[in-house]
Amino acid sequence: MLDKIESKILEIVEEINYDEATRLFKKLNGGKRLRARLIATIAQMSDDAIKLGSIVELIHASSLLHDDVIDEAVTRRGVESVNASEGSKTAIMLGDILYSKAYTSLVDFDPFIAKSVASAVTRLSVGEMMDVKLGEKFNDNEDVYLKMLDLKTAALIESSSECAAHLMGYDTKLYALYGKNLGISFQIIDDILDITQDEKTLGKPALNDFVEGKCTLPYIYLYKELDEDGKAKLKSYHKKVLNNDEKHWIKTNMEKFNSVEKSYDLAKKLSDEAAKAIEGDVALEMILAKMLERNF
Ligand code: IPE
Ligand code: IPE
Ligand code: MG
Ligand code: MG
Ligand code: MG
Repeated sequence: MLDKIESKILEIVEEINYDEATRLFKKLNGGKRLRARLIATIAQMSDDAIKLGSIVELIHASSLLHDDVIDEAVTRRGVESVNASEGSKTAIMLGDILYSKAYTSLVDFDPFIAKSVASAVTRLSVGEMMDVKLGEKFNDNEDVYLKMLDLKTAALIESSSECAAHLMGYDTKLYALYGKNLGISFQIIDDILDITQDEKTLGKPALNDFVEGKCTLPYIYLYKELDEDGKAKLKSYHKKVLNNDEKHWIKTNMEKFNSVEKSYDLAKKLSDEAAKAIEGDVALEMILAKMLERNF
């Protein structure tokens, strides 16, 4: 499955007809290709599915190029991020080239698909901005946080699932619901892995979210459980590069109050909701199971 997607992605990039863009693109590793796999799984590896999956992966890659500039991340997919190796200007320009090329290819599809994917990117971008705005202050509001995840991460996954269903003539609403719950759950797991895994396993910075100001779910759950002194301490660590004692304090308290487990429980609950929408589709249930079990 992946071979066909990889060669289609490269074919689209080469159509840009700019060697520098191709060279830079080749420096990005492929990643898990979750969105393309999802589309190819639902739309049974048709040519349209491969093309749409490739377009969505280019859009996702663009969002990561920009995300690493925004998050000042120096690694991505196990290698130096483009902003780190080539500078932020290049990362932004490459993101723009790939985004716009993806849209050009997208209009080969019918308006339902073009509109769904394009509007998902608007939501993704709004979500990215909300993420940054939320990170300016300590946030302990779970509902606001989950709304942001819905935009930042779930929108594109929801659209991928919906569009693949549209290609097959399936009930797009059910598949959209599957994708939305998969997407929110996926980002909760990403936030957990930032805390539980090291940089080598992740292929991107670890324990970076809180430094960046992101109060992800385990931090929100921890905050709820702490006494007044603990709450003040956690707030004083927000947006700071922490020493080992401070990191240890956070991890120990997260263990004591099961903050990671509680976050995982919500990811599992959302994954179960996703499964309900496509009940009996073993391949899509497998995608959920792998998403929950992953360690990067
Ligand atoms: C990274 O997405 C950004 C998030 C939404 C968490 P992925 O975890 O799908 O990244 P790759 O494509 O596998 O590198
Ligand atoms: C996801 O947010 C980024 C996008 C949806 C574009 P993160 O900032 O958590 O992603 P990673 O952890 O850097 O992959
Ligand atoms: Mg990031
Ligand atoms: Mg980010
Ligand atoms: Mg992350």
